[in-house]
Order: sequence, then structure tokens, then C-alpha cells
Amino acid sequence: MKPGSEVSAVQHEIGSSDLVPERGRYIVDIEGTTIGIFRLDGVLYAYENICAHQGGPVCQGRIVPRVRERLDDAKQAIGLTFDETDMHIVCPWHGFEYSITTGIHAGDPSFRLRAFPVEEREGTIYVTC
Ligand code: FES
Repeated sequence: MKPGSEVSAVQHEIGSSDLVPERGRYIVDIEGTTIGIFRLDGVLYAYENICAHQGGPVCQGRIVPRVRERLDDAKQAIGLTFDETDMHIVCPWHGFEYSITTGIHAGDPSFRLRAFPVEEREGTIYVTC
């Protein structure tokens, strides 16, 4: 890329805050880029709708709690439990799971989603891309 030819990011108005309910999502196309906007504990997160595995529509996958193994005092497995404090998106193509708060794959941090700045002001959502 030549110096001075960089494309600068622009803040885009998405719409009302109501578009993204708690633990919900909203998918939007912004000038050819499809972005998923999520809300957890009132905080918004935005990721490009392209899975780091093979490009699947990750933001359209199921939203589920992380599954953790429970251990007893002797460190023996005693079953699985859902961790409601760590919500994930599951890519519908092959099941890669990403933390909604970080965009990072649950088992291999080398896989991560492309994040975009997202904010709310006076009941309106804005994404910068
Ligand atoms: S493309 Fe998402 S898991 Fe394979």
C-alpha cells in the first residue's frame, strides 16, 4: 500500500439500542462488510461475520454458555457445567467457539475474530469500520 492511500475508518450509525437486546445480536451490512453486534451485561461487542477457521458466518451461530469440566477435591472429573459468565458464539459451519467478550477461540487463541469499535450514545448504536 502506498503512503497516504490508507482507508480511514468511519463511524456509522446503526440504529436504536433496542436492535441489540441483552444476550442477543444484530447483523448489519456496512459498505460490503457484514458485522455482528452483540450485547452482554449491557456492553456491546462487534465482530466481522467471518470465522477465523474457514470463513463461515460465525456471528449467525448459536449463543451458548461456555462448557467447563467440574473437578472434585482430588481433581477428578465429576461432570460438565455451563458457565453463564462466559458466553460464546458457535460458528454454524464446524462449531468453532469464540468468547463474545474477546472474540478469541475458546481452545486456541491463535483463532480470533476481527473486532470493530462499537458504542452507544443517547439510545443509538454506532460502529466504526
Ligand atoms: S468456518 Fe467456522 S468453524 Fe469452520
